Amino acid sequence: MVRTPPGSLPVDGLHALRQRRSAKWSTYPDDVLPLPVAEMDFPLAPVVQDVLRRAVDASDTGYGYAEPVLGAAVARFAGERWSWEVDADAVSAVADVGVGTVELLRAVCRPGDAVVISPPVYPPFFSWVAETRTRLVEAPLRQGADGTWRLDLDRLGTAFAQRPAAYILCNPHNPVGRVHDREELTAIARLAAEHGVTVIADEIHAPLVLPGAEFTPFLTVPGGGEVGISLVSASKAFNLAGLKCAAAVTASSPMRAVTDRLPPDGVWRIGHFGLLATEAAFTDGGEWLDALLTTLDARRQQLGRLLAERLPQVRWTPPEATFLAWLDCRSLGGGDTAHELFLREGRVALEPGTRFGAEGSGWVRLNYGTSEEILDEAVLRMAAALH
Ligand SMILES: Cc1ncc(COP(=O)(O)O)c(C=O)c1O
Repeated sequence: MVRTPPGSLPVDGLHALRQRRSAKWSTYPDDVLPLPVAEMDFPLAPVVQDVLRRAVDASDTGYGYAEPVLGAAVARFAGERWSWEVDADAVSAVADVGVGTVELLRAVCRPGDAVVISPPVYPPFFSWVAETRTRLVEAPLRQGADGTWRLDLDRLGTAFAQRPAAYILCNPHNPVGRVHDREELTAIARLAAEHGVTVIADEIHAPLVLPGAEFTPFLTVPGGGEVGISLVSASKAFNLAGLKCAAAVTASSPMRAVTDRLPPDGVWRIGHFGLLATEAAFTDGGEWLDALLTTLDARRQQLGRLLAERLPQVRWTPPEATFLAWLDCRSLGGGDTAHELFLREGRVALEPGTRFGAEGSGWVRLNYGTSEEILDEAVLRMAAALH
């Protein structure tokens, strides 16, 4: 382990991290510092390590059995973190948020129906629409004079007036890190009710709302429960993406009727380790999560200092949530010029902005869910790449 400032989570050194075989650590050669895909470098929460170790020791590697464990864990966590009263019986297990979104789209859309998304946004939103043979309609975010990206209610109003079948909401929004506020979400619920649109609220990053911001679950805003289904998971905040467990939550009978149409075999497709880890994380992982949020807040501030000192050409608006920073590198060129430059000359891998939609031309996404040392080295290399 590298040195740990007080209140901060430790991170293994690079040599140990390179022993990992997940996508983040397998995609690039060893001389590249990988800060792309949304995996974090912190060791697992001890409660998660314990439950997984116990399962391995007991050869407990069969099928997951979500009922009633997952609903109870989600309801407890939502109540404690966000004062959101979730009915444990209204929670359906899905293998991951991607599978959940695709299956919900299949449940509410016919092929050819329109589905609205708000780029720049998590790249699979584009491919999930393609996978379900629905039709993509873009209502891009709007960047204000203060740099903050917000939902564009005018564009959404125009898009919803075409009576799309669904809107995939990203809250908190990846890659811009915006936590949509109650007013905006209420307006979305109103528009959705007016035009008969089902809102699939991808709230996977909700546990990662950082100090200074507050998460509003879509289903808690007036009318939200009538038109929306929330997808939640412990996988981003507790780094469990490979274990495969997420939940679809409803708060009204019309939306419950939609989750009732999810494939009945879906419950057998969740990962048993994912279920065990999710239960442990949501039930006993609160203290660790608080330490993570403190650490990410410090890393966010560090990144701000490093960019100001070493890369003044790069602009950013610090995210309100997530461990992902959306960096405006348009001064270095459009398209993925900056991404290519940082990779080729600096040996730092970031996520190219164009993957998030046309609005991402000239931008990159940097994953700061890592140690102080690695973040420092990454920005040093990025700055050196420009000389
Ligand atoms: C907004 C968003 N939704 C969904 C996912 C993927 O979630 P899952 O692995 O549960 O499909 C990610 C992963 O980073 C994400 O950022």
